[in-house]
Amino acid sequence: MEDLQLNPQYEKIIDDLLNQQYSIVDDFFLMKEVENLRSSLLDKYDEEDFKKAAIGNQFNELIVKAIRGDFIFWIDEKLANAKELAFFEKIEHFTNYLNRTCFLGIQEREFHYALYPEGTFYKRHLDTFQNDDSRKLSLVCYLNDEDWLPEYGGELVIYKDGEDDIKVYPLKGRMVVFESQILEHEVKPVKQERLSITGWLKTRKINL
Ligand code: OGA
Ligand code: MN
Repeated sequence: MEDLQLNPQYEKIIDDLLNQQYSIVDDFFLMKEVENLRSSLLDKYDEEDFKKAAIGNQFNELIVKAIRGDFIFWIDEKLANAKELAFFEKIEHFTNYLNRTCFLGIQEREFHYALYPEGTFYKRHLDTFQNDDSRKLSLVCYLNDEDWLPEYGGELVIYKDGEDDIKVYPLKGRMVVFESQILEHEVKPVKQERLSITGWLKTRKINL
């Protein structure tokens, strides 16, 4: 049976999204789940499966480096380990709730791990591509180890017209959800390795 109870945590996220186009949740995942994902990320990083993030393919490497310096690993859910499956189960539950209560029509998702080495950043951008508006919600969950100190940098800055910039520090277990097509944002230079799992809830892409 589908669970039709109101979920206060999800309701808070939905309210936030409606009111301010973003939401910050510090306890979406259990600390144990966060640690599990962190260790999965680090295992994959050691196996050198990570790739330097690319932007489309019309840019050369130097230009890409001037825009973003993180390393990413796309997670193939068919190959996901138990720790990752637990993550996707929660995402699935949340997505079903969104579809049922907000008619968002989310039918697809894509997630990657990201590692920002010291000195890297991701300049101000929007999470959508030309000719593809399928990304509806961006989700970032931070997998940093200890308490992240402000002097480590690496804050996510969300820009809203006519309002103060919103600074979000990548605290362990914190999840940020925001409207992919609306909010421009950037990752400030990091002074300490910065880990996350990042993804998008998407409508089905219509191929015209
Ligand atoms: C991205 C992004 C934000 C963050 O990967 O597109 O903007 O805080 N990430 O890691
Ligand atoms: Mn982004």
